[in-house]
Order: sequence, then C-alpha cells, then structure tokens
Amino acid sequence: MRLVLVSNRLPNPAEQSGNEGGLLTAVRSALPDEPFLWIGWNGRTSDEDPSTPTRREHHGVSYVSFPLRHNDIERYYAGYANRVLWPLFHQSPARLCYRKEDEEGYLRVNEIFAHLTAPLLHPGDVLWVHDYHLIPLAKALRALGVRHPIGFFLHIPFPPHGALRVLPGHRRLLAGFLDYDLVGFQTADDEEAFRDAVRHEFAGGPAPPRTGVFPASIDPAECTRAAARGRRGTHGRRLLQSLTGRRLILGVDRLDYSKGLPERLRAYERLLETQPRWHRSIVFFQIAPLSRSEIPEYADLRAELDGIVGRILGRFADYDWLPIRYMTRGFRRDTVLGFLSLARVGLVTPLRDGMNLVAKEHVAAQPEEDPGVLVLSEFAGAAHELTGALVVNPYDPEGVAEALDRALAMPLEERRERHASNLRAIVSADARAWARAFLAELGGVPRQGSPPNPA
Ligand code: ADP
Ligand code: F6P
Repeated sequence: MRLVLVSNRLPNPAEQSGNEGGLLTAVRSALPDEPFLWIGWNGRTSDEDPSTPTRREHHGVSYVSFPLRHNDIERYYAGYANRVLWPLFHQSPARLCYRKEDEEGYLRVNEIFAHLTAPLLHPGDVLWVHDYHLIPLAKALRALGVRHPIGFFLHIPFPPHGALRVLPGHRRLLAGFLDYDLVGFQTADDEEAFRDAVRHEFAGGPAPPRTGVFPASIDPAECTRAAARGRRGTHGRRLLQSLTGRRLILGVDRLDYSKGLPERLRAYERLLETQPRWHRSIVFFQIAPLSRSEIPEYADLRAELDGIVGRILGRFADYDWLPIRYMTRGFRRDTVLGFLSLARVGLVTPLRDGMNLVAKEHVAAQPEEDPGVLVLSEFAGAAHELTGALVVNPYDPEGVAEALDRALAMPLEERRERHASNLRAIVSADARAWARAFLAELGGVPRQGSPPNPA
C-alpha cells in the first residue's frame, strides 16, 4: 500500500524554521520509511487556477503542492478555518466570527483539494487527512467516486456538544466526519465529545465512523540530537552566555490566543510581586513567532502582549537586569530545541490545546543528569501523559506563580524523578508509534508493538 497524506500546509523540505506548528512537527517525526505522497497548499496565493500542482521529490517523499486564490484563502483559511473552527474548537466563542461566504469558501477549497487529490490516487492507496481545515474532504472525495480507506486526525481539541451548537450549520460540519473510515483524536475527552455530538445530532441516522485516541508526539531521540546541536550553535552559546548564571524560564508558542500568553505574563508578574527573592536571578524568555497576523484577533493579541511586556519591564527591570525577554520571530528547529535544553523551567500554559508538542520537546531536550521542570496547563492534551509536570490552571495567576516558585526551587532529586517519568511517557508513545497505531487501526498496515492509547 502507498500512504497519501493530505494537510493544509506542507513542510518546506529544505529548511525547518519558523512557526510551522505541531501538525508538521508530528507528521515529520513520524514519516514512514516507505515512499509516500504528501499533498497540500504551497502557502502562496495566486490569481491563477490551482489546476496545475507542482511535484517535488525529497528523501523518498513526493510533495504535491499548489497555490490557492487570494479570495479562497481569505474565506477558507483566514475566515472559516481560523475565525470559526479554531475559536469554536478551542472553546473561545466570543472570538467566533461566522460568515456564510466563508463557509462556502471552506467547502469550495475542500472540493479543490479533492479534485487535485483524486487523479493522483492508485489502487490500494490509503489516505490520511490532517486537521480542521479539511473536515469535509472525505465527502468531497467520495462524491468523485474515491473508495479508498480515508482516515482523519484532528490535531486540535473537539468541543463539547453544547459548545459546538454555537456554530450555525454545526450539523453540516459534523456530517463531514461521517465519510471517514476512522477519525482520530488527541485525548479520550475529545473522542467522547465527538461521539456525544454525533449521538445527539444523528440519533437513528447513519453509523458513526470508527474513532480512536492517538496522542500526537515527537521523536525524542531526534529532539535530543537537535537540542545538542542547538546548544552548541551560535544562538545556543549566546543565550547561555547572556544568562550569566540566571535561571531561565522559557515559553515557546505561536502568537495565538489559545496559548494563554497574557495570562502567563500576568502570572509571571505575580511571581515578581510576591517573590522578590527571585529578582535578578531569573529571566523569563517568551518566544512567540507571529502567526495568522492577517486575522484581527491575532493583531489585537499582539498589541495586548506588547503592553503587558512593557508594563512588566517598567515595573521590575533594573538597568542591568531585564526580567523578561520577548521575541516574535521564528528560529530553526535546532535552535529552539537548544534553547529548550537550557530552560530550568519550561512554561507551557495554553488555555486549551489539542496536545502541545513544545511540552514534549522541553522534556526530550533536557539534560537527564540535571533536568529542568515542566510547568504545564491542565488544559493541554499533553497533561494526560506528562504526569511528572507541575500541572496548573492557566486562568489562576497565583497558582501558576506558586508553581513557578516551586519549580525554580525544586531539588535535583525531585527534578530527576519528574523528568524521568515524563521521558518514559514520551519514549513509550513517540511520533512513530502515533502514526503506526493510527494506520494500523485504519487497516493500512499490520500492527507492530502496542499502540500508545487506542480507545
Ligand atoms: P501548535 O501546533 O498549536 O503551534 P505545538 O506546541 O503542538 O503547537 O507545536 C509547535 C511546534 O512549532 C513545535 O514543534 C515547536 O518547536 C515549533 N515552534 C514553535 N515556535 C517556534 C519558533 N519560534 N521557531 C521554530 N519553531 C517553533
Ligand atoms: O497544530 C495545529 C495547527 O493549527 C496546524 O494545523 C497548523 O498547521 C499549525 O497549527 C500552524 O498554524 P497555521 O498553519 O495556521 O500557520
């Protein structure tokens, strides 16, 4: 069998840099050894018809990509996917901005994906579709006569039925899932919410698709190697030197409102207020590469963060100590991993997150003999697996400040125990196990070893 992956975005095979997000990290780390086909948008807009995709071979992977029209991207990507589905699925309904023409654009682009994918299929192919941009793709492919097995994996959370109902046309959206042979989720809560919604909306109707829980992951050995390279590289060395022995608290997130960045900064501010003993001996470094900047809610968030960072500096900085460093650019993967390896505290406090691979990367990057501590939101999928983390409620600034205080002061033995437990969790359920379990369940490949968490 040949695997055919379809996702909105494709990796840039030549360079791994910037704010690509967890989907590409997980899929890239899980690549099978056999050749496969990966289809997606090339990240560019054009006024030409996207009927002529470009094919490029790289390390056994055939990448087929195409531009989309400016208007289609506005409706499908910036409109429906990221101003409707993203806030809806992350349970932030106040940010939801539904427009009928965006939903139409979303369906139209899914049809474009289907029309470009169908002619490339061979008998025996197995399709694996990724994430919320492409929920109706199976329906569009089935309409073109495609009968291959098609699986779908949702990288982001699935909302409870009550929250889903906020969406005009939520039944239409849900119906899109029914044409898949298998729908995979990050956590048991997501799977249960989906099954509950299908039960309510389609009682006595068509059979629901098979579902399963497959927590997305990383390749821990690759992360460890990348961290070592990044630490030795120019940026790693410069960061270490600049710390002058101060303990580093590090956050690495796309600049996205689901990541809880204002709340995180306020919690850090609280720590500085209540625990002056840490003044001058810690530095909080937040890397927040710009993401989806054309969307107003993201521009608003950026302005809000600029304000909070300025306030913290104005209140607590000294002429020779800045309590916070904040950057909105992306780095090469090695560099990010190298930075994570230097962090005494990995601060990962999303308000809601499907998985959060940065949490796993922090664990994999840490030196085992003297590891740092992960402070992790209970609302990240990763909290189900990384039980060695200090788990916090990101809405509670006092609680997060206390966890930071505890993490900074934690004795070596406890740090080692917690880190070893987190590392075991990651090694036993890495990215390859994730993909293998999903594809085995889809029926494409024989099962090898035990899947991470089938439901
Ligand atoms: P999301 O998919 O919502 O962006 P994840 O935490 O699951 O969140 O995945 C983010 C991925 O993007 C991680 O692999 C992380 O290392 C990478 N990343 C985040 N920020 C940067 C950055 N500034 N430069 C390079 N890579 C980054
Ligand atoms: O992992 C979640 C995710 O939304 C991916 O689907 C997406 O590719 C990534 O984050 C980054 O977002 P974007 O593609 O909008 O830049």
